[in-house]
Amino acid sequence: MLNTIKKHNVPQHVAIIMDGNGRWAKQQGEIRTFGHVSGVESVREALKAATEVGVKYLTLYAFSSENWSRPKEEIDALMNLLVSTIASEKESLHENGVKLKVIGDVENLPEHCQVSLQEAKDFTQNNTAITLVLALSYSSRWEITNAMKHIAQDLEKGKITSSEINQDILSSYMETCGIPDPELLIRTSGESRISNFLLWQLAYTELYFTDVLWPDFKKEDFYNAIIDFQSRERRFGKISEQLTNE
Ligand code: FPP
Repeated sequence: MLNTIKKHNVPQHVAIIMDGNGRWAKQQGEIRTFGHVSGVESVREALKAATEVGVKYLTLYAFSSENWSRPKEEIDALMNLLVSTIASEKESLHENGVKLKVIGDVENLPEHCQVSLQEAKDFTQNNTAITLVLALSYSSRWEITNAMKHIAQDLEKGKITSSEINQDILSSYMETCGIPDPELLIRTSGESRISNFLLWQLAYTELYFTDVLWPDFKKEDFYNAIIDFQSRERRFGKISEQLTNE
């Protein structure tokens, strides 16, 4: 299947809404946390597949701002899973040239999570094969509101003027500053929603929804999404004939 992928048309940036861990666990007669633990293997699969095909940025929606309203035991389990996974995978990420980046309201995370993420970010900061962006305590409306606050502060300080504000300036105030917008968004588990994820950045992104539950997501599922992406005509508001003449 890997051979089917055209090397010249691989998205630079793929974002994934990893969904369905809870339902997967229920199907197995297990508690929800078991689904999250099993989902870590799918994170590995997606990261390996993305690196193999030449994707440069992989962004994973690992914990949304809204997820803070889940039961405390589930939140604690997710935070501990994050810390233990980062600790056990740090060396392997580094050996495979993965640079770790985090977007979201990180100050809201428990102290031990912040420390472990900072260590892993520092450890992998010079890697260039692929950047793994973890969205944690992230929501797009939080990000955009936060960007607006910083713009307002910089206006007050005279660092920028209102006439300078354009789309590039706005992008530079987002958490994803310096990262190209995703060309492809994958959401698992049969839900067809964006759920407050990268609203600014997804303006022209191709959306791919699959019924596969996240813990069942394997390399082949990632390849399938890329192959589907390669069959799309991306017009960016133009007409088909204009594209063939370019
Ligand atoms: C959504 O499924 C999944 C999450 C909220 C958490 C995803 C986290 C992981 C897979 C672990 C990540 C670990 C690292 C290191 C990135 P859900 O709980 O909403 O499932 P449901 O919709 O079936 O209830």
